[in-house]
Amino acid sequence: MITKQKGCHDIYGVEAKKWKYVDKLIDSLMEKYNYSYMRTPLFEASELFHRGIGETSDIVTKETYDFTDRGDRAITLRPEGTAGIVRSYIENKLYGDPNQPVKIYYNGTMYRYERPQSGRDRELTQFGVEVLGCDDAVMDAEVISLAVNFYRLLGLTNVKVQINSLGDEESRSNYRNVLIDYFRPHIDELCEDCKARFEKNPLRILDCKVDNENPILKNAPKTIDHLNEASKKRFEEVLEYLDLLKIEYEINPNIVRGLDYYQHTVFEFTADIEGMGSQSALGAGGRYNGLVEQLGGPETPGIGFGIGIGRTLLALEKAGINLPIEEEIDAFILYVNDEEKKYATYLAQELRLNGFNVDMEYQNRNLKGQFRQAERLNAKFLLILNSEDLDNNELKIKDTRSKEEEIISMDALIYYLDEKLAMDEYASSELEDDACSCGGACQHEHDHNHSCEHQCGCHHHEED
Ligand code: HAM
Repeated sequence: MITKQKGCHDIYGVEAKKWKYVDKLIDSLMEKYNYSYMRTPLFEASELFHRGIGETSDIVTKETYDFTDRGDRAITLRPEGTAGIVRSYIENKLYGDPNQPVKIYYNGTMYRYERPQSGRDRELTQFGVEVLGCDDAVMDAEVISLAVNFYRLLGLTNVKVQINSLGDEESRSNYRNVLIDYFRPHIDELCEDCKARFEKNPLRILDCKVDNENPILKNAPKTIDHLNEASKKRFEEVLEYLDLLKIEYEINPNIVRGLDYYQHTVFEFTADIEGMGSQSALGAGGRYNGLVEQLGGPETPGIGFGIGIGRTLLALEKAGINLPIEEEIDAFILYVNDEEKKYATYLAQELRLNGFNVDMEYQNRNLKGQFRQAERLNAKFLLILNSEDLDNNELKIKDTRSKEEEIISMDALIYYLDEKLAMDEYASSELEDDACSCGGACQHEHDHNHSCEHQCGCHHHEED
C-alpha cells in the first residue's frame, strides 16, 4: 500500500467540514475588513525565498522543498505566503493601483521540511494578510486586531498577543552591534547553529530553538532598550491603538522572529491551552518595510501575519470547543420502483437547481434502509415517492422534526419547502440572538442575561 508522506494529512468527513467552516469564516471576515483575496503559485523561483526570507533563516537553510525542474530552473515549494505576495505585488505593479493601501489575504498550502509532530506539518495551511503601502501605526493595530477577532469568532478567547519592536533600520543596526559585543566573549557557550549566526545574523541567536534556556540568551540585551526615538514613538503609538481597540497584549522583548524581513512591530499569537506544548504559536507576523525594495520594487511599507489553520483547529480541539458545523440537508428523496427512481432523479435536480440541499437513494435499499439513511444525513424533510401519488401529480412529504406527514401537490413543493425552511431559519436566528452576546458571531450558547461565557469580546447583553 502506498501511504501519504510524513507530516501530510488526508482531511475528510467531519474534519473536512471544520476546515470548510474556517474557510468560510475567513472569507466573510475579510469582506468585513475589505481585504481582497489573492492566489499565488505553490512554487516559485528559489531565489525569491533566498532573497525574501533571508539566507540565514531556518526556513531557507533547512526547511525548503527545493528541486530543479526539467528546464533546469531552481524551484522551491513556497514555505510561507509573504514572499510570493510581494513578488506578485511588484510584478503586477499593484503599487500603481489608485486604490491604496493594497490589502490582501490568502489561505493556502505551504511546505516546510520540518520534523513532523502534532501541530507541526510538512504540508501546512496558512491564512494570512499582507497590507502594502501603509506605514501608519493604525495599520499595525488593525492587522493584529483582525487576527484576534478571527480567533474570537472561532471561540478561542485565550489567545495571547505577544508584541515587540525591532525598530527601524538604524535601531536594528545599532542593536546588532550591541549584540555582537555582548555575545563575543560567550561564543564558545553557544550551540553550533548560533556560532554560525553570530557572524551572519546575531539577532537570530535570540530565536534559537536548541538552546533557549541558556542564561546567555536569556540575559542578552533587549531590542526594545535600543530603539531610537522615532522607533520608540512609533511602537508607543501602535500600543495606544491596540488599547483603543481593547486588544490585550504582552510586550515580549524576546520576540525577534525567524524571518529576516522584519522591522518595527513583530508579534506572535500564542494559545494558552493545555496540551499545545511547543506548538502553541498559532500565528505570527510583523512589519517588513524593506522587503518590497529588496525584491526589486519601489520603496513600500508592508505588514502582515500568517496563521496556521491546522494548529488553530488543534487548539480548538484541546480547548474542547466544537465548531457549529452544518450537518443537515433540506430533503432526502425515497422511492421503491424504477418509475419512481426516474422521477426522483428528475426531482433531485429540480430542487438542487432551485437552491435546496437534496440527496436521494442510490443503493437499492429497502424503504426501512432509506429511512435510516435519511436519518444519518439529518434530512429535514423526507420526500416519499410512490407511483399512485405521482400519477396524481402529488407526493408525500414528512417533516422529520414535527413528524407531520401530508400529501401535497407536486406544483406546490418548492413553495412549501421554501416556506417551511424560511420559518426554520427565522426560528434559529432568534435562538442565535439569545444564544450569544456577540450577535451570533461566535455561535456559542450562553445565558441570555450575561456576557458570552466564551468571552468572545462583545458585551451586547450585559445591559439587558
Ligand atoms: P511563521 O511564523 O513562519 O510566519 O508562520 C506563521 C504560522 O504558521 C505559525 O505561527 C504557525 O501557526 C504556522 N506554521 C508554521 N510552520 C508550521 C508547520 N510546520 N506546521 C504547522 N503550522 C505551521 C510566516 O510564515 C510569515 N509569512 C508571517 C507573516 C506574514 N509575516 C508577515 N506577513
